[in-house]
Amino acid sequence: SQHLLLRGRKVLITAGGTRERLDPVRYLGNDSSGKMGFALAEAAVQMGAEVTLIAAASSLPVPAGVHLVRVESAQEMYGQVMQHFDQTDYVFKAAAVADYRPVVREMKKRKKGSERWVIELERTTDILETIGKQKQHQFVVGFAAETEALEHYAMDKLRRKNCDLVVANDVSQEGAGFNSDTNIVSIYGEEGCVLSLPMMSKLEVARQLLKLAMIRKGDQGGGA
Ligand code: PMT
Repeated sequence: SQHLLLRGRKVLITAGGTRERLDPVRYLGNDSSGKMGFALAEAAVQMGAEVTLIAAASSLPVPAGVHLVRVESAQEMYGQVMQHFDQTDYVFKAAAVADYRPVVREMKKRKKGSERWVIELERTTDILETIGKQKQHQFVVGFAAETEALEHYAMDKLRRKNCDLVVANDVSQEGAGFNSDTNIVSIYGEEGCVLSLPMMSKLEVARQLLKLAMIRKGDQGGGA
């Protein structure tokens, strides 16, 4: 039946915003709530998949039946994604991963003293790029949070990170992107835009995206 199309499939999802520690009480973070990734997890479970959700900062309830792995930093998320990647059929990277982390992480709370605190940052590992290089049978879906030139940046990410699809959301639009219950997305494949969706709940976006991914993978569904 329609609702168990992903039975027997393993789906790996990342969600939420990573936190990069400065000291035991301070970090650099971002506005991702985890809603998009958690909606994907919920929809995939409803379709019968075996779901692992690797979640950075998010205070959302965990959908029943989801195997949850909590992480904090980009580096921890990278480690967990790599650990699960071989055994998965689909990967959805809805997390907002920090591109930079502080070079120094102080072990004790930093005291007020000087007038300025200059923080030096270094690049984190790009998880999507890494799995894009290693992928074999896995179908890899990246996300792109943009405020301009959606198509240009989405296609650039698709090619550079060797993704099968990139889901672009214009985070400057009302009802799209960070922390909203709805999203407005355009989905890109190697030939360009393959699906543009009007504003809808993140759960409905998730369902549409999962179905599209199955079609593009040539997955007949249902434990086949
Ligand atoms: O969590 P919500 O509040 O529901 O918000 C949802 C969302 C806006 C966060 C989500 O829909 C989204 O767009 N997620 C990706 C945001 C993002 O960080 O995009 P990016 O353009 O910086 O990164 C592109 C892709 O590379 C993403 O799939 C990201 O997970 C991945 N990436 C980025 C950096 C890095 N070091 N490793 C990565 O894997």
